[in-house]
Formats: sequence, structure tokens, C-alpha cells
Amino acid sequence: MNMARAKATYVCQNCGAVAARWAGRCDACGQWNTIVEENPEQPLAVAGGVQLPKGKSRRLEPLAGTSEPPPRIATGISELDRVTGGGFVPGSALLIGGDPGIGKSTLMLQVLARLAQAGRRAVYVSGEEGLDQIRLRAQRLGVLDAPLMLAAETNVSDIVATLRREKPEIVVIDSLQTLWTPVVESAPGTVSQLRAGAEAMVRLAKKTGAVMLLIGHVTKEGQIAGPRVVEHMVDAVLYFEGDRGHQYRILRAVKNRFGATDEIGVFEMAGHGLVEVPNPSRLFMGDAESQVPGAAVFAGVEGQRPLLVEMQALAVPTTFATPRRAVVGWDSGRLAMILAVLEARAGVRLGQHDVYLNVAGGMRVREPAADLAAAAALVSSLSGKAQAAGTVVFGEVALSGRVRAVPLTELRLREAAKLGFSRALVAEDSQLPEKPGLKVERIPDVAALAARLLQS
Ligand code: TYD
Ligand code: MG
Repeated sequence: MNMARAKATYVCQNCGAVAARWAGRCDACGQWNTIVEENPEQPLAVAGGVQLPKGKSRRLEPLAGTSEPPPRIATGISELDRVTGGGFVPGSALLIGGDPGIGKSTLMLQVLARLAQAGRRAVYVSGEEGLDQIRLRAQRLGVLDAPLMLAAETNVSDIVATLRREKPEIVVIDSLQTLWTPVVESAPGTVSQLRAGAEAMVRLAKKTGAVMLLIGHVTKEGQIAGPRVVEHMVDAVLYFEGDRGHQYRILRAVKNRFGATDEIGVFEMAGHGLVEVPNPSRLFMGDAESQVPGAAVFAGVEGQRPLLVEMQALAVPTTFATPRRAVVGWDSGRLAMILAVLEARAGVRLGQHDVYLNVAGGMRVREPAADLAAAAALVSSLSGKAQAAGTVVFGEVALSGRVRAVPLTELRLREAAKLGFSRALVAEDSQLPEKPGLKVERIPDVAALAARLLQS
């Protein structure tokens, strides 16, 4: 046995956690079959107890000073500019993540073509597709005449050399997972390669002042390295979400050094690319008008914009020992909590039912304010009684069963009234405007909610 052989390391391709030995399931993130043997990277000086080189003493700056707000490259696509906080900041790197096929390449090609048409030097580097394919897509998008430069390349050094020569203001790398350098001995697509490629691109952005848009596929199976491992390196992380079966796409910032992270951009995937949806409040309502049991309209807010979303529940008697719970577009932990609260505080028993909860239109709801709407949908499905027409619901549900007021009550009510809703179920202690514009019913707790839905 050769003891001098470098010890192999095992790296989770989903979260980047390092393990001493192979395992079927990653301890850190819980994903299966994501651990891959990778060649050990250079030992870190600190980790190895190695003497660090002597450093230079740096000048400190006072906190009280003036800094200019960063300049911005606005794209003119307001749904995108809203999410970035007013445009791209030169010298920054952004990760654009999302499921394969969701429309990342399409959006980025549209953005780049637009900026190129506006006179910006823009380069699209693709390791995913050949030039022909990109041209075909550009033709479909109607931007073939944009003065945009392309490269089909995956070698990091070649990309860096090319970009240093071309000095673009804005670059798309499609995708991070295709980047590859011989310096890192692991196979292309592994975490080490992904990280090395991303690092080189981030450094290049800082050095040259270019905006670097890095596309990364998110995979649930962890077949290819997850872009999560580069989230900390970049200045902003935007996720492109949606259901491939629906035409709506949501762009959401989960990290942004230069702006807020609560705004979303809404697009519709059309035959000629992604189209902005400036007024999305009605999009996610399913067929809310046809009063079916199990539906409740949630008056939500995304960033500064109200957004009405239909939540759909289905409760059916189960044939399993452990009833099924499946959630699309909402948090499954939150569903479990609402089910428990409904049972304990309102006597609504769903323990013998399979429960399905779906948010219409491929939307993903994150606000706790959706609790009451989810509860209403569940009660309505169980009872088989549809809610009264024209009702919106919002409020956070506590473990005690009490319904708590949520922020921006007035904004939610105004939007619902504008869209023709006539009644709102809200928390008892909600701060109401003088003229809410619709009938407001205060719901103190989930028991009151259940009573209200069962009598009406
Ligand atoms: P794509 O941008 O290739 O996705 P990603 O880069 O995230 O993997 O988009 C793929 C899907 O979008 C594909 O199924 C076809 C569809 N599409 C349209 O519906 N309209 C269009 O104009 C384009 C370009 C694509
Ligand atoms: Mg693509």
C-alpha cells in the first residue's frame, strides 16, 4: 500500500460540502448520489498550519465619507431592471440560476442583443450550444441584426484571453457548468471546475469593469454541480423560476449587493422570446371566477407590487397508512404546520386525507401572509363548499391558531378592490384604511375561519 498517495476528497456536487469518504447521501444537504471523488485541491495555507507570508500594512478609511452610488447599465427591460435594482453595475458578477429549459439562455440573449443595439460592447460565450443554434434563437427573437459578438468556447483560459482582448462591457457565460480548465484535475462539470471557472470570471469582471452574467443550471438530482457553490463569490444571484408547463416566468433576486432582494420580474414565454408582464397581479388566479371547492385567492405582495394568487387545495380520503402531502409552489413545512393548527385549534381533521396544495400558474409563494389563504383552501376542499365569490384572503397563522396581521394591508385591499373583489378575510388586528373599497371581515383565529367557511 502506498501511504504517500494524496488522500482523495469527496465533494457533494449539490452543495460543495467535503467529506472524508464516499456516501450515498450528503450529510450537509441531504441530497442522494451527489458525492463525487475529486482530486485534492491545493492545501489551504491556514488549514495546514503553514506560515503565512508577511502582509503589508493598509491604510484605513473612516466610515463617515462619501461614496457615489454605483453607475448602472440599465437594460430597458423594466422587469429585469427592477430585480437588479436599476440595472447592472459595471465590474460586478451575477449568477442567473434556474432549471434547464426555463429560459435562461433566451432571456440573456435578449438582454445582450438589446444592450448591443444600444451601443454597448457585448459578448455571448456559449459552451452549451453552437453558433448555429444561437443564431437560430436570435432569429426567432428577431434580434439577428444586433451587433453582438459570439464565441462557442468552454476553456476558461481561452475565454479570459479573448475577453481581455475584446474588452466588452457586458458578457454572458452560458453556462458555468461547461467551463473547464486543465489546471483543475477533476472532470468538467464537477464542483472544483465550476468554482475555478466562476472565480476566473468574477476576477475578470472586477479587473476589467465588465458585467459578467453567469448562467448556472440548478439540478434537483445533483447530476451536475449546483451553482449554489458559487453564490458567495458573485455580487448578485437571480433565479429564474416557473413551471415549464406554464408560460409565466419569475425572475427573483435571492442575493443582491446593489439592491433589494424582494422584487420580482414577471415574464411570459412567447413564440418570439420572453415578453415583459408589467401588471402581473391577475396572472396567477387560475379559474378563480368559477367557484370550486378548495380554491382561495391570496392577496399577496412581491416587493412593492401586489399580486393576487390562487391557492388550490385538494383533500381526498387516503388509502395509505401514511397520508400523502404534496405541495407545488409553497413550502411543505408550512403546509404541515397549517394542517396541525387546523386540527388542534379548529377541529378540522385531515389526518385520514391525502392533501395536495398547488399555487396556480407556476407561481411560488413565500410570504407567511399566505397561511390564511392556504387554510381557507384546505377547509373548503374538505367541506366541499366553495368560498363566496369575489373573496380574497390574507393573514399569518400562529401555532396558537390566532391570525396575525401582515404588512401592506392597504396595498393588498386596494388591489383586490381594483380587480373587482368584493370581500376580504383579514386578521382581526389589521390596520385598515378608512375606505378599504371592499367588505372586510376580521378573522381572529382559524376556528373562526372554519366556522365562517362552513356556514356561508
Ligand atoms: P432556453 O432559453 O433554452 O432555456 P435554458 O437556457 O434555461 O435551458 O429556453 C428553452 C425553452 O424556451 C424551450 O423549451 C423553447 C422555449 N422557447 C420559446 O417558447 N420561445 C422562444 O422564443 C424561445 C427562444 C424558446
Ligand atoms: Mg440554455
